[in-house]
Amino acid sequence: MSTEEVTAKISTMDIADLVFVDEAAGSDESGSGSKSAPYKTPQAAVAHIADQPEDKQEALKIVVKKAGEEEYSPVTPSALKKAKKAHELALKKAKKQAEQEARDKEQDEARQAEEQRKLEESKKVVLTEDSSLPRARLIRIADAKNSRNTRVKVSGWVSRHRVQGKDMMFIVLRDGTGYLQCVLNNRLCHTYDALTLTLESSVTLVGEIKEVPEGKTAPDGHELIVDFWEVVGKAPGGDEAVSNLFDKDSDPSVLLKQRHLVIRGERASSVLKVRSRVMRAFRDHFDSVGYNEVTPPCMVQTQVEGGSTLFSFNYYGEEAYLTQSSQLYLETCLPSMGAVYTMNESYRAEKSNTRRHLSEYTHCEAEIPFITFNDLLDGIEFMVKDVVDRVWAEPETRAMIEKLNPDFKPMTEPFIRMRYEDAIKWLNEHGIKRAEDQQDFEFGDDIPEAPERHMTDTIGKPILLTHFPVPIKAFYMPPTKDDPRVTESVDLLMPTVGEIVGGSMRIWDYDVLMAAYKREGLDPKPYYWYLDQRKYGSCPHGGFGLGIERFLAWMTNSFTVRDCCLYPRFKDVCQP
Ligand code: 4AD
Repeated sequence: MSTEEVTAKISTMDIADLVFVDEAAGSDESGSGSKSAPYKTPQAAVAHIADQPEDKQEALKIVVKKAGEEEYSPVTPSALKKAKKAHELALKKAKKQAEQEARDKEQDEARQAEEQRKLEESKKVVLTEDSSLPRARLIRIADAKNSRNTRVKVSGWVSRHRVQGKDMMFIVLRDGTGYLQCVLNNRLCHTYDALTLTLESSVTLVGEIKEVPEGKTAPDGHELIVDFWEVVGKAPGGDEAVSNLFDKDSDPSVLLKQRHLVIRGERASSVLKVRSRVMRAFRDHFDSVGYNEVTPPCMVQTQVEGGSTLFSFNYYGEEAYLTQSSQLYLETCLPSMGAVYTMNESYRAEKSNTRRHLSEYTHCEAEIPFITFNDLLDGIEFMVKDVVDRVWAEPETRAMIEKLNPDFKPMTEPFIRMRYEDAIKWLNEHGIKRAEDQQDFEFGDDIPEAPERHMTDTIGKPILLTHFPVPIKAFYMPPTKDDPRVTESVDLLMPTVGEIVGGSMRIWDYDVLMAAYKREGLDPKPYYWYLDQRKYGSCPHGGFGLGIERFLAWMTNSFTVRDCCLYPRFKDVCQP
């Protein structure tokens, strides 16, 4: 067709043998070359023609509508030449790519076949322990330093592993007491188990612990040169591999669901180990001051800290609760054992999800007879400092805390003692307003978590906040003699966490306690045994409760108390 003929065809709309290109509105992806679905580029039109049967190709002509133009006109010879060239190049490129893909596929298949062959081959490599070597002594990783240069056997879990060439493999073994780098050479890395080893598999390794050569690093400066090993329990690979279940950046909900595996990680296991040492330090502290440990029941029929956070359950047809605090039972122990303490679980049906509230927490509580309010404050301060000093004095625990919380230091200065009334003044002087109406705080207001944290973080030191008003505190707290509006009560506030201890003197007069029940609308009947304490030789006494998870959150710089217990319980979470 000549150019004139094409122009004529366009004008007569005899378009069956035209391929349309609209540079403004066409599309190379969705176009078909028809007038209603034009291509965008002449190159696409050339490709279209090249796809037609050879006898049809000659008759097809390309027409183009340039951007801003109204009409189609025949493609210019130079544009056609350019399009043909681009089309040829694209064809070449596609051919090359297809060839490359075929080669890759072939190589992949060969590699897989080779791997399969190697795996099959590896099944024939069977390790046997060399009976001419000295007998290996079973050790824990914590004992590795004292066991250098002797033949030892260690069992644990594969925390990390790395293959170096075909004759060398490193395993970082974890057994809960530490980490040990293990080196496997030659045949030891040719077994089926070596080639398919997965993280978190449990293994037993035998060999000699040698100091690492200068310039090389390994945990504790040594490594196990393995001469025999075996897999005890293989962990899955692929989709189920532990590294595919979560990582440190996973959403907290994922980490909570997988907490049974998360606790194998370095940070989580360190916090749990520090927790174990902290609980021991509390026991050692109480032992040193002569308090007896008791274990009161967790199933109870009385409330301690208000009805709104009670978990109730059916106890053989009667209503019972999970204990909010062991305090009332501790009080009954005073005439029997003198000062007592417990490390018991407490339960709170907390409605809100905050980073410092759990539904179940470990409550360290103590109760002491014949003391004054000042004795109580001194006792709390001494206990916190003494427990920190005890934990700090253990080199291994101190190293863990320093890693978790590099800024942590034992406290040397006296704790600040501040009355509730002065805290209200402090908040108002610092322009902190009540959330509900943006007004100044007033005497009698509960100081909510956020302003309390703000004040504690600003002051940056432990604060024994005392003398809270009667209406915002528990029924058992006595008013002070000089100001009956306030109670002999205390909260210990720590920077970054807020309240970690709540304590008070206890009403020890029978009639005053009965009046308190009346005021609070509580039926005194189920408390007959508590009232009897005020009947059968009452005495002034006081005590406190400390949340172990909050203490740990402060010490280990954990964002939330949820990371400071084994399996946190809070609203909607009761698994694992
Ligand atoms: O201030 P609380 O409610 O005091 C009592 O239960 C007293 N009967 C204790 C006593 O005098 N024997 O709680 C004491 C401490 C708090 O300071 C806090 O550390 C912790 O228990 N605590 C919680 N920890 C985690 N989750 C919760 N929901 C907690 N509620 C209180």
